[in-house]
This record gives sequence, structure tokens and C-alpha cells, in this order.
Amino acid sequence: MHVALLGATGAVGRTMLQVLSERKLKIDRLTLLASPRSAGRSIDWGGRSWECRVAAPGVFRDVDFALFSAGADRSKEWGPVAAEEGAIVVDNSSAWRMDPQVPLVVPEVNAAAAQDRPRGIIANPNCSTIQMVVALEAIRQAAGLARVVASSYQSVSGAGETGRDALRAEVGGGAAEGSPFARPIAGNVIPQIGDFDEEGWTGEERKMINETRKILSLPDLPVAATCVRVPVDVGHSVQVMAETERELSVDEARAALAAFPGVIVADGAAGYPTPRETAGRDEVFVGRIRKDPYLPRTLHLWVVADNLRKGAATNAVQIVEELAGA
Ligand SMILES: NC(=O)c1ccc[n+]([C@@H]2O[C@H](COP(=O)([O-])OP(=O)(O)OC[C@H]3O[C@@H](n4cnc5c(N)ncnc54)[C@H](OP(=O)(O)O)[C@@H]3O)[C@@H](O)[C@H]2O)c1
Repeated sequence: MHVALLGATGAVGRTMLQVLSERKLKIDRLTLLASPRSAGRSIDWGGRSWECRVAAPGVFRDVDFALFSAGADRSKEWGPVAAEEGAIVVDNSSAWRMDPQVPLVVPEVNAAAAQDRPRGIIANPNCSTIQMVVALEAIRQAAGLARVVASSYQSVSGAGETGRDALRAEVGGGAAEGSPFARPIAGNVIPQIGDFDEEGWTGEERKMINETRKILSLPDLPVAATCVRVPVDVGHSVQVMAETERELSVDEARAALAAFPGVIVADGAAGYPTPRETAGRDEVFVGRIRKDPYLPRTLHLWVVADNLRKGAATNAVQIVEELAGA
């Protein structure tokens, strides 16, 4: 199999290479693409050295799967080119996610959607959305879903390598030149990820709302989100309030989550998942499972996952595995 990575040198691209080296896909050829800054750089993978190039017409010929993680502008530019040249594109950016002709796929939830891809492009959802919908689908299958309210605590690596650099520089006492954050991030929490729209919601919040509805095929599901950047290197946490259609006990919710693929329940009196403990893992971890004290059909969940793995690279590689029958 010939796999191309556009954005191979970034936070997600490097995690993609790591995940690909751990899985069973038989890859005999890699095409690594990044910006002109990285052209000519060598990257070791699979016992060989592969040279980074810039994308150019023709580069996706003979490519089976093209995994994109180089930002929305590059995805808009190169997605149709790669598809036209015969590659199946799995795109990590926001460029194509809400296009009705592009499936938005989390394999544990809607793997079959990847089969219908009129543009030859499949979109990987937003990182905090992926982990939330995995937990929500387990609850939905047990008791239906009537409403969702989420608050996220998102790590700096969600903003790529520049986000990680900014936190490191500030913790070291320096100024974070080129920080992607609206305020200093060290010792802070910032309730803004993306730009505000005219109604006061940020881009990241709109993504969680719209993408959740699309992935779950529940276009009218009421969803609200507040997305917050926190000074954590890797791992997003999401507090989810899920109102179900039928009443579900905590034990029933725990059993539904524990039986669901890709979920680990880390619950109990003293147990709960944190980003530090779950970084480097591919699963979605759920703890703090509680019933609302006033609303009998409402559950509260604490959902943690590695945003670079399940929130990006692992989810994309799982999509490739589904299509390749691996
Ligand atoms: N970080 C996450 O948790 C996460 C989760 C889900 C989705 N995503 C999405 O994945 C994408 C990448 O995110 P990231 O966190 O990996 O960002 P990043 O660390 O900033 O990496 C960006 C990558 O894009 C490449 N690039 C930049 N300009 C380019 C150009 N003109 N042509 C070709 N390649 C170019 C960079 O190459 P150079 O190294 O040469 O500059 C680098 O490989 C974004 O669309 C992001 O929204 C990220």
C-alpha cells in the first residue's frame, strides 16, 4: 500500500507516522509532504529514510490513501487534486467536514458512512468532538439521546506544534513569540478556541455542535458547547451532560460504555481519567459517571482522550483500516 501524508512534520503528521508504525497495515511506500521549510528533510520510518517534499500536481498518482494534516487551506487546495489523481483522501482539517458530499467518520460510530464518498474525500472530525461522540454513541444505543451540553478542557497540542512551543516558552519564563492563543496560556485557562461569531460562539464550539449532529445523524439534536484551552501538553477532557430519551441508571450507563468499542471506563470512588494518564493511548476514557440530582434522564460524564491520537491520527488510520479491510 502506498500512503501519502500531507503535513508529515506537524504534531498530527508525526503522530500519524507513529500510529502507522504500530498497526497492521502493510505499507510499502510513503510519500511525505510538508511546507517548503521541510523540503529535503529526511524522516526515518519502517527501517528506511524518506525524504519530505512539497506537494505538486502528479504527486498523488499511485497513492492509495492520502492523509492530510496541513491545515484547511492546503486541504481545500490539494484534496480535489489527490482525489482526481486516484487517492482516497482522509482529511484532518475542518475544510470538508460539513460538506454534504463528504462523510464525517468516527469508525466506532458510523464506519459505514466512509463507503459513500462522492468527492473521494473523507473527513476526520474535530478532536474534542471525536472523543465525545464515541461516549455519546454508547449512551445513545442504550437509551437514545435528547440533548447534549459539553464543556471542554483542551490541551495546547490541539493548536499544533506552535501551541506546544508557546506553553513551553511561557513555563520557561520566556515570551511566547507567535503564540496561537489569545492570552498567555501558562497558569491560565482561556475560554476561546477560534474566532467568535456574531452570536458569541467560537469556531471550535460551532464545530462540536455541528459535527456531533452530523456524525450521529441527528440533525436536530440540541447541542451546546463551551470550549476552553488549558495549559496541558496533550489530552483533551470533556465534561458531557447527556439527556437521554429513556431513563438510564449509572450502572446501566457504565455497562453500556464498558461494552462499547474503543471505550475504557475509569470510574469509581477514587478513579477518574486525566490527560497525563491517558496520553499515548488510543482509547476514549470515561469516568465520573453520575446521574443528575434533579433531572432523571440526564447523565454527567467526564471524557478524556489523547487529541493527537484518537482525536486525529488514530481515527484517520482506523478509517484507512476499515477501507483496506485490515
Ligand atoms: N493538533 C490536534 O490535536 C488536531 C486534531 C485534529 C485535527 N487537527 C488538524 O490537523 C491539521 C494539522 O494540525 P497540527 O496540529 O499537526 O499542526 P502543526 O503542528 O502546525 O503542523 C502543520 C503541518 O502542516 C505543514 N504545512 C504548513 N504549511 C504548509 C504548506 N504551505 N504546504 C504543505 N504543508 C504545510 C507543516 O509543515 P512544516 O513543518 O514544513 O511547516 C506541518 O507538517 C490542522 O488542520 C488541524 O486543525 C489537529
